[in-house]
Amino acid sequence: MSDRPTPELLLALAREAAGRAGRLLRDGRPADLGVAATKSSPIDVVTEMDLAAERLITGFLAERRPDDAFLGEEGGVSGGTSGVRWVVDPLDGTVNYLYGLPQWAVSIAAEVDGEAVAAAVAAPMRGESYHALLGGGAFRTAADGSSEPLRPRPSPPLDQALIGTGFNYVATVRTAQAAVARRLIPRVRDIRRSGSAAIDLCDVAGGRLDGFYERGLAPWDLAAGDLIAREAGAVTGGRPGLPPDGDLTVAATSGVFGKLQPLLDELGAWHDSHE
Ligand code: IPD
Ligand code: CA
Ligand code: CA
Repeated sequence: MSDRPTPELLLALAREAAGRAGRLLRDGRPADLGVAATKSSPIDVVTEMDLAAERLITGFLAERRPDDAFLGEEGGVSGGTSGVRWVVDPLDGTVNYLYGLPQWAVSIAAEVDGEAVAAAVAAPMRGESYHALLGGGAFRTAADGSSEPLRPRPSPPLDQALIGTGFNYVATVRTAQAAVARRLIPRVRDIRRSGSAAIDLCDVAGGRLDGFYERGLAPWDLAAGDLIAREAGAVTGGRPGLPPDGDLTVAATSGVFGKLQPLLDELGAWHDSHE
């Protein structure tokens, strides 16, 4: 079928869906919110609000784009015929959300023939959202609707770089990640663990972090933030020569990336076995 929407249309839908889900999550959080289920480990939790947000997004997109494919974290997988696929994390930062911490986001990317062309990340408790269009730059929008281009910071030397990271829910993986962080921390300014990979990637884009890395991310964690970071002018990748994936995701200002990516490779940031 020759249904090839413009990236601008896909971006408008992504932003609208992310905004609606963000408002649902912000305004609809029950005071007694509990864990509805666990996934990869007992600490990998899902709340009723993760599920409600994904239902809202799938319903919104399916109504407007019935022939598109869909990959959502909470099980929303469907094939399509249009060449467009939506990659959705309805609530990135679920543990923060569960505890009432503000660092969580809705992340939506639209891919055409496997390439991300439009991305939206809504972070309602920050009063901000972020978006990007392939080849069209990346922007931050404030609650009053005003937008400004996202720009990474000028690159500092690695030992003055503020680096975000995250830890997987699987104990063996996070133990190895802690060993890598232990060796990295003396070589950088400091490390941050925000609890939302989508926001971390947008923070590299907007100059609030000099770099970010994590092992074990899924497509829905990184698809939107990766495009936003690249369109802002940051560099992203995985292991040297590879795109970001579940083995390793690295995003940084260009000067920091050139030092951080090989260092992470040397430290074995993509695997389990550390002394
Ligand atoms: C998680 C967050 C976290 C990262 C984890 C992700 P979730 O996503 O992005 O920062 O460290 O690897 O799984 O489970 O809150 O959607
Ligand atoms: Ca996530
Ligand atoms: Ca999630």
